[in-house]
Amino acid sequence: MIDVVTELPALRERVAGWKRDGQRVAFVPTMGNLHAGHYSLVELARRHADHVVASVFVNPTQFGPNEDFSRYPRTPQADAAGLDAAGCELLWLPSVDAMYPFGVDATVRVSVPGVTTTLEGEHRPGHFDGVATVVARLFNQVQPDVAVFGRKDYQQLAVIRYMVRDLAFPIEIVAAETRREADGLAMSSRNQYLSPDERPVAAGIHRCLQAMRESVRAGAPRERVEADAVARLEVAGFRVDYAVIRDPDLNLPDGPGPRVALIAARLGRTRLIDNLEFEA
Ligand code: PAJ
Repeated sequence: MIDVVTELPALRERVAGWKRDGQRVAFVPTMGNLHAGHYSLVELARRHADHVVASVFVNPTQFGPNEDFSRYPRTPQADAAGLDAAGCELLWLPSVDAMYPFGVDATVRVSVPGVTTTLEGEHRPGHFDGVATVVARLFNQVQPDVAVFGRKDYQQLAVIRYMVRDLAFPIEIVAAETRREADGLAMSSRNQYLSPDERPVAAGIHRCLQAMRESVRAGAPRERVEADAVARLEVAGFRVDYAVIRDPDLNLPDGPGPRVALIAARLGRTRLIDNLEFEA
């Protein structure tokens, strides 16, 4: 059965024991309310290491003042059972005090330049600093050899890769494919906020990403593709934060090569993000 640890010394002791025996440790950070997407990260992590540690921590520093921190779904018992079934041996479940012993307002912060200034960074100011701040702490707490992140949060993955290189964390970053519902909707803890009327509409984001890919491949200019995507999403009932085509580093594409289409849009009170990588 999975071990649940809530204090740092217990976490360190378990991981140090594995490492003394020369075994590799993989880490899957999460905010809980786990679904098949998260469990696929655990399964991928198992292929890269001898032991898998997951964390569940709803991180206050990455939520904006008007975001869903207090109502973010918390389901630690179901999460522990699901992680156990997926092959995770240790669940790091810190309290806010254990994570931020000097308090949230007095913590050392990690701020990643560049890739954080666009897209999600524009629409959720401070979000990626909160993510980098907590992931840096989690890396120091768990001290894994490898950590797994989902491509679903494309920009977050770019932020983590940049931080790991710049701060020289001795950790290999592995990216996992996005798990989707049968109709293409990317799995997300936030999907449960969708009303029964909204739920089928939400899959329109994935179809729109596919249409953007096909238009780019057919030679349509980027601005046209983006404007058409916004119009299409608005007709379906979304309020669109962005619908864009970028290069893999999230810069404006220049010449042929790999592309990523990214969408952030609100349906009712639910904000959804998704992306699709492709060759132009
Ligand atoms: P959370 O949203 O819980 O996501 C945890 C991990 O699961 C992330 O790496 C995310 O990209 C991945 N994930 C989410 N939905 C997925 C899906 N449908 N398919 C594949 N992977 C998926 O991302 C966070 O938490 C936080 O920002 C965190 C990194 C834990 C820092 O607090």
